[in-house]
Parts: sequence; structure tokens; C-alpha cells
Amino acid sequence: MSTTELTIRARAPSNIALVKYWGKRPSLKTRLNLPAVGSISVSLADLWSETDCHIDSALAADEVRVDGEAAPSPFAQRVRLHLDLLREAARRPTAYLQVNTRNNFPTAAGLASSASGFAALTLAACSALDLTRPPEWTDGRWQQRLSQWARMGSGSAARSVYGGYVELYRGEDDDGEDCFAEPLAPRSHWPLVMVIAVSDTREKAVGSTVGMQRCAETSPYYPAWLASHAGDLDTARRAIGERDFSALAAVVEHSCMKMHASMMAAQPALTYLRGATIEAMHRVVDLRQQGTAVCYTADAGPQLKALCQPEAVAQVEATLADVPGISAVLTTPLADGPQIGPVP
Ligand code: DP6
Repeated sequence: MSTTELTIRARAPSNIALVKYWGKRPSLKTRLNLPAVGSISVSLADLWSETDCHIDSALAADEVRVDGEAAPSPFAQRVRLHLDLLREAARRPTAYLQVNTRNNFPTAAGLASSASGFAALTLAACSALDLTRPPEWTDGRWQQRLSQWARMGSGSAARSVYGGYVELYRGEDDDGEDCFAEPLAPRSHWPLVMVIAVSDTREKAVGSTVGMQRCAETSPYYPAWLASHAGDLDTARRAIGERDFSALAAVVEHSCMKMHASMMAAQPALTYLRGATIEAMHRVVDLRQQGTAVCYTADAGPQLKALCQPEAVAQVEATLADVPGISAVLTTPLADGPQIGPVP
């Protein structure tokens, strides 16, 4: 007889790195997914993933759906591997789950769908599997553990278990025990806004994991990327703490361009930026030179993300919408954090 347990729903925000994670630590245990560098991000309120999970005793394997439809097989397989890890931690090796997930934004186009997706999956599945905080642990320590599990699904997901400004530590330990994210500041500390200029929502040709590996193996700039990273983290941490926009803008754009330089110098080259992205970068710099508090960043995809002060939003939106090749502009405040609970 099949027994279906309570359905748990988790919604996690996407996040955009201000100081980027790009590259993995060489490790025998690749499933730990240890980043080669730390990173600092902001979580976004209006771009999220929502995942429902429940245990179904009639299942012999996890059933994975996206928007209610059977998920494509590489994605379903990645989800099952992640659930294997959580089942192992919960000591419930045969507790298979029905999973249904959805994003309210285009997937796999450099809008951080794996970050919010694996964070929401981790939070919903842990709760469905009764993987809860040991009584002797503080809430903070438990959040770190959830962040570590999310990291094993996707590195950037480690940051999406929190709202506001978040730092993911690189850590030193081979077992990844000191590699987790923590909040740097709540969104109320500095309520900046992200304006996203969308130019192309097709799935990227080379995923982040493969791209990182190619960079590490072939890009002559990759060692320089690693060597100069710690200073960028220090600068960004200080700029956020002091709400110093011009210092933050300088390090955000520098981190972004260093990452893309290292990508472009790989063989074959990784060219995630499109013409519209580059033009949008110029417009953002022009705006800032005229006195507007705005800076840009871009990830493994062509979308341009402009971080700005709330009073600059209308001007930034109009400027980016005017760039040839930009098809939509999405504006979002920073997020408070994930939500989780039973589905009524
Ligand atoms: C460019 O987190 O997608 O967005 O750990 O292999 O899943 P995996 O990589 P992923 O990489 C994110 C790279 C980035 C920069 C960032 O978010 O820090």
C-alpha cells in the first residue's frame, strides 16, 4: 500500500554574485563541489524557485517534475544524485520523493536558476525527510549545514539559503566542513536594487561546471584570477559594511571582467557575453560617469545585471531598455530569505 506523507514547499531566491565564484578546488570527492574561491552575492526577491517534495512509499526512484511535467533526464539525474546525498544524511535510503519544481524566470540562461533551484530542493527535501536541526545545534549552525548541502547540488546554491548580502567561504578543509555561506548583512542594511537586461534566454551552450573545468585546464589567466581573489572579497566586504557605492562598483565590475577574461582565454574560448551585453556595460559606465549610482555584472550567460540605488531605478531601466538587442528589463529588490512550510 502506498503512503504519501505531507508535502513540503520551499521557495528560495536566486542570487547574483558581486564577487564571483568561478573554479573548483581539486578534490578526490568531486561530489563535495568545493569552490576554488570564496564569493559574495545578493539574493533577489522577485526571481525564485519553488519546490514541492513529499515521500511516496510506492516509488522505487525519485519522480522529478518541472512545472508538473516529467523533467528532462540530465536534470532529473542531477536532482536524484542530490537527493541520494540527503537520504544518506537522513539514514532513510529508500525514502523516495515526488518532486515538483518551478522557476518564475527563464532557466539556465545566466539567471542563477541552479542556485535558487538547488537551494529550494535542499530545503524542501530536508524537511520532507525529517532532516532537522539537532537540538544541541544553534539555528546559525544548522543554516550553515543546509548551505553546505545546497553547495553540493550547485556551488552558488550555498548562498541562496539566505536573503540580503551573503558570503560563501572557500574554506580549507578537504572534507568541506568549513565551506559554507553566511549572511553578511540583511537587505535592510542597504536596500539596493537589481535591474536585469535580458537579451537572450536560450539555454547556455556550455554549463558552469564544464566551463570552470575548461578554464582551469586551459586558460593562462586562471591562475591570476585565483591569486587576486582574496583582495576583492576584502574590498567588497568593507564596501558593503560602509555602504560605499563607488568602492563596491569598482570591485564588482573588476571581478566580473576578470572572470570573463579568464573565460575568453580558455581553449576553446568561452564567450558568454553577447553584443548587447557589452553595449549595456558601456551604457552603465556612462551613466555612472554622469553621477548615477549604478554598476554592472554578468555571469555565464548574456544577461546584464545592473546594481543600483533605488532612486536610480527608472533611469537605469530606461537606459538598458534602449540598448539594441535587449528584449526585456526585470527589476527586483533584494530578498529577505527563503520560505518553507507544509502545503495546505
Ligand atoms: C558565473 O554554481 O552554477 O554564476 O557549482 O558547478 O553548479 P556549479 O556552478 P554554479 O556557478 C556559478 C558561476 C557564476 C558566478 C557565481 O554565481 O558566483
